Amino acid sequence: MRILIPPARLEGTIRVPGDKSISHRAVILNSIADGQARIAHFLAGADCISTINCMRAMGVSIEEGEHVVVEGRGLHGLQEPEAVLDAENSGTTMRLLTGLLAAQPFFAVITGDSSLRRRPMDRVIKPLRLMGADVRGRQRDSRPPLAIVGGRPRAIHYTLPVASAQLKSALLLAGLYADGKTTIVETAASRDHTERMLSAMGAKVSTYTSREGHRFVVLEPPPALRAVDLEVPGDLSSAAFWLVAAAIHPNARLTLESVGVNPTRTGVLDILTAMGARMKLDNQRDEGGEPVADITMESSNLTGTDIGGELIPRAIDEIPVLAVAAALAAGRTTISDASELRVKESDRLATLGRELGALGAGVQELPDGMAIDGGSRLHGAGVRSHGDHRLAMALAVAALVAQGQTVLDDEGVAGVSYPGFWQDLDRVCAW
Ligand code: S3P
Repeated sequence: MRILIPPARLEGTIRVPGDKSISHRAVILNSIADGQARIAHFLAGADCISTINCMRAMGVSIEEGEHVVVEGRGLHGLQEPEAVLDAENSGTTMRLLTGLLAAQPFFAVITGDSSLRRRPMDRVIKPLRLMGADVRGRQRDSRPPLAIVGGRPRAIHYTLPVASAQLKSALLLAGLYADGKTTIVETAASRDHTERMLSAMGAKVSTYTSREGHRFVVLEPPPALRAVDLEVPGDLSSAAFWLVAAAIHPNARLTLESVGVNPTRTGVLDILTAMGARMKLDNQRDEGGEPVADITMESSNLTGTDIGGELIPRAIDEIPVLAVAAALAAGRTTISDASELRVKESDRLATLGRELGALGAGVQELPDGMAIDGGSRLHGAGVRSHGDHRLAMALAVAALVAQGQTVLDDEGVAGVSYPGFWQDLDRVCAW
């Protein structure tokens, strides 16, 4: 439980933890590369630790310390796990590893916690079966646990039915072992960290956009991958909590150092800019094939906006905290094309509606989004995280401007993606 009251001022510099998506990929891809990789600023959150444990269960030696050190076993060096793999709360672990397992010459079962066992897996099962793998979920709904008997995949040309980087990455991982070129078509661009990392490791991945705006990713199965050392950029999805906190608080200035600003992820920056945020990016640079910048946000007078279409996959994890920004903005904000939010760690359209409503926000839940009438003063209340890390942190941000006291039921869940969130909060609050 955590009790929150609004601070007089928010001020300081924060180095947010490493990017979750890049941390998962750094462990998985280096596990099947040749050589040793040292990963700096790795996200030691529960989700990425689940990935480390699953890879260890397949015989990979991984050291956790100041750096994470992965001893690559090569493309064909993984071992059949002795026991069921546990992805716990992590959708990325389960979906990416299912793609990898579909191409291994052994049997594996992967499961997760009660939240992950409710999330849809047919999106990965279907194309992996087209590639020839035997992947099964529960009989009634294809949900986890999943049982996989892998083998040499057939190359496929596949249009993603949902904009999902987890699905795309699962197919690219299987495609590394395929009998020809794998082509994946996205109708809206999702995060491209897998493509970038595979290229850095020596694989031939080409991408191009068609005249209709479809993005094609073509992967040639490489003879081997080269291990790469890298410094993981700060996670923009974690920085987003502070960006919104500073924007909505009347007396605030926060700087986020070394944050990843890959254009497939920066929907949150575009949306906050459209809402009138006083934000600047400094020191823009490239680190290990990923763009990085320092971002400073000051108290801002936000106005409502419309969020939909191609912005959704580029801001999918930031919608909870953007809903908080919308609740404090003048006028109406609409969020549409976002039904994917119903199958995240919680049904975020329902849980956001309920919990922001408890704080006095004018939120209406819609089938594929929400309408938020901003500008009303929030008041403290008892709120629930529903076991969802991003919901918990978004509610903590709302509590920074809610009159009186807010009581959040479960603070620990933030550690799934942001260990140290509460310490950083204490550090930047001035009373
Ligand atoms: C992720 C992709 C997104 C995102 C998740 C991480 C990834 O999920 O919500 O937190 O690392 O590929 P989907 O691809 O299912 O939208």
